[in-house]
Amino acid sequence: MTEPVAGRSKKVAVLGQGYVGLPLAMRAVEVGHHVVGFDTDEARIKTLAAGESYVTDVHPGVVRAALSSGRYVPTTDESVLQGFDVGVIDVPTPLRDGVPDLSHVEQAARTLGGHVRPGSVVILESTTYPGTTEELVAPLLETESGLRAGTDFHVGYSPERIDPGNATWSLVNTPKVVSGMNASSLSAVRQFIDTLVDETVPVAGTREAELTKLLENTFRHVNVALVNELAVYANDLGIDVWAALNAAATKPFGFMSFTPGPGVGGHCLPIDPSYLSWRVRRSLGRTFRFVELANDVNDHMPEYVVKRLAEGLNRTSKAVNGSRVLVLGIAYKRNTGDARESPGRIIVQLLRRSGAVVKVADPHVAELGSLADELMDGTPASLVDANPDEIKAADAVVLVTDHTAFDLAMVAEHGRYVLDTRGRLHGPNVERL
Ligand SMILES: NC(=O)c1ccc[n+]([C@@H]2O[C@H](COP(=O)([O-])OP(=O)(O)OC[C@H]3O[C@@H](n4cnc5c(N)ncnc54)[C@H](O)[C@@H]3O)[C@@H](O)[C@H]2O)c1
Repeated sequence: MTEPVAGRSKKVAVLGQGYVGLPLAMRAVEVGHHVVGFDTDEARIKTLAAGESYVTDVHPGVVRAALSSGRYVPTTDESVLQGFDVGVIDVPTPLRDGVPDLSHVEQAARTLGGHVRPGSVVILESTTYPGTTEELVAPLLETESGLRAGTDFHVGYSPERIDPGNATWSLVNTPKVVSGMNASSLSAVRQFIDTLVDETVPVAGTREAELTKLLENTFRHVNVALVNELAVYANDLGIDVWAALNAAATKPFGFMSFTPGPGVGGHCLPIDPSYLSWRVRRSLGRTFRFVELANDVNDHMPEYVVKRLAEGLNRTSKAVNGSRVLVLGIAYKRNTGDARESPGRIIVQLLRRSGAVVKVADPHVAELGSLADELMDGTPASLVDANPDEIKAADAVVLVTDHTAFDLAMVAEHGRYVLDTRGRLHGPNVERL
């Protein structure tokens, strides 16, 4: 169990105040640490300094409480990092043209490195390929500080398992993997993370910890691809894939339930497995076939959704061109406002390219205003409420993200033709993926 940190309070620098860094910073403040929330995005820092939040799982009240505790300083000013005890790196690790882009991690390591002192602890949390902590981050910290990693200061890797929108498993009660480049680093990393979470899971080295995170996400990615491909073929064979999946899920051992959907999104599944396959290709010259196959299947799902939608409209003698289509949910995940890499965005773009008049309803993303124009290829957004009038007015409705805020029974009742990509609706006008 987490112990109160009274007397062991540290100065903690969290680089990156996004979906991962902000909850971590808030938790560190909650248990009694002094936290600098450093981010290069001025707009984000202004929002935090004003006591607001852009991360669905972090309530503005939590940010306000952190600010008024006097132990949380959101900033873009590097000099505030001076004298930190523990530095945590939570910056993006995207792909650029299919290749890992570690420029943010490099930049963050340089920034922190200038403030590393003997005894400091630096923990990388960003998802990345095995080897990053010791081959990239530690040398940069050494260069900037003039000190020896593992001897003068500690370096480790601890992947984040945060699951946005999950009310059961939080940062605190989800076991957290910890590692260090040597035994003393592991011990220092573990000691700090133990102040934040109920249970830490030490692993042998940083590469094993880095691989753990990629294994977890690749496992999910591959299994989602399996049921997606199954859904496509079951439909062609005239078999209800959902009935089979539900029945299989009753097996108490040896089966784990995954459900088909419109494709994968967010900053994990579409990206992380490719970090692993890139490393395998670069270091071993081999193709990680499971990852390539899963990418291929999952990447084609938005196209498949549009094909099914076109077939559905066709049955009512309508073309996609000129039809009014209501897309329910643009966020990649239920009950979150995160529309990064979301299949819903691709579905909207494909439909618009085919001439459909597309409306989008997403109570979570609508709050984020500026995203709307980007979603609509730069043309004015048509964000609407998912009310009975909008449902009735649409030639077709496609449920992409099954937010609990949607009245699904009403959608099934009033929709003229509804394509349900989540297996949540029933009714004479409803067709499931
Ligand atoms: N979102 C998730 O559910 C999730 C879960 C587990 C792991 N991860 C991983 O965690 C990492 C961070 O993801 P995220 O979702 O929090 O990203 P995010 O984009 O929400 O936040 C990252 C923040 O880092 C800031 N930043 C970029 N460069 C910086 C720098 N040099 N110094 C300081 N700040 C900088 C950005 O401005 C941004 O605010 C990624 O590697 C991601 O794969 C994400």
